[in-house]
Amino acid sequence: MAKQLTALVSQVDAYLAANLADNCDQAILKESMGYSLLAGGKRLRPTLTMAVAKMLGTIVDDNVTRAACALELIHTYSLIHDDLPAMDNDDLRRGKPTNHRVFGAGMATLAGDGLLTLAFQWVSENDLAPAVRLRLVQELSRAAGPAGMVAGQATDVSATGQKLSLTELKKLHRQKTGALLRYAVLAGGIIANQPQEVLDALIGFGESYGLAFQIYDDILDVTATTAQMGKKTHKDQDKAKNTYPGLLGLDQAKQELVTALQTAGDYQAQIKEAAGCDVSILDEFLAYFKI
Ligand code: IPE
Ligand code: IPE
Ligand code: MG
Ligand code: MG
Ligand code: MG
Repeated sequence: MAKQLTALVSQVDAYLAANLADNCDQAILKESMGYSLLAGGKRLRPTLTMAVAKMLGTIVDDNVTRAACALELIHTYSLIHDDLPAMDNDDLRRGKPTNHRVFGAGMATLAGDGLLTLAFQWVSENDLAPAVRLRLVQELSRAAGPAGMVAGQATDVSATGQKLSLTELKKLHRQKTGALLRYAVLAGGIIANQPQEVLDALIGFGESYGLAFQIYDDILDVTATTAQMGKKTHKDQDKAKNTYPGLLGLDQAKQELVTALQTAGDYQAQIKEAAGCDVSILDEFLAYFKI
């Protein structure tokens, strides 16, 4: 991982470790939330927000970090619920047994509920300008809610075993994974008080990065090992999940990934043009994809 990103990941890890416990008043619930949240993870979503705010000239202090980390709370909740027996029924996450395997499905459900709710406390209780906080709350609720991530998860569940068209699958991926990554990038622009022209370019980057991310996750399920990923691989096909390799084959799925990344690159150039700043920190996020 490149240098700037590594430093931001450490900042996120430190913030989460120092602040999760303050806001949680039930011992087992706290342990269950911390178990998944503090288990590592790439931290791509909060670091994207912080990196974008930074590249647009904002100092990434504790307030920015807190608002950015709210998204990691939501992402971690989505993983805990995604792994539940009634959803993907997975046993391994972030290199450890899944939350419900350790704490039971009831407590895992509540750990997710706790993280989701706490996210809105963190994004609204900080010293960023009131208008910025309100905008972040609006955008985060849209991205995470029943028109965003939850909608995608609902389609994922309801369409399992049925074959979606490419158009439907693209929409599923844009919702279940793209929405939070779109928000991650947009939030950096909101925090940095950017004009609409810059926000639009950031949205374009976030959407294409988000689509690429889920296509790549589907590809890694086929090509990577469980040890590399810290979660079980080679499972989507057995579970009759709708994935890019499942629908198109591996080669064509990779081609779709390349196309989404080219679009992200075009938007990266647009951000540079509109904001007049150095956008090379985004290269560190694009370097995640090894095609
Ligand atoms: C996994 O997300 C779930 C998907 C949206 C594909 P990440 O690959 O970002 O998982 P962590 O946070 O690094 O564990
Ligand atoms: C998960 O998609 C997307 C979420 C919103 C959590 P997957 O079900 O493919 O994620 P993994 O492969 O279990 O991490
Ligand atoms: Mg899933
Ligand atoms: Mg899953
Ligand atoms: Mg997956």
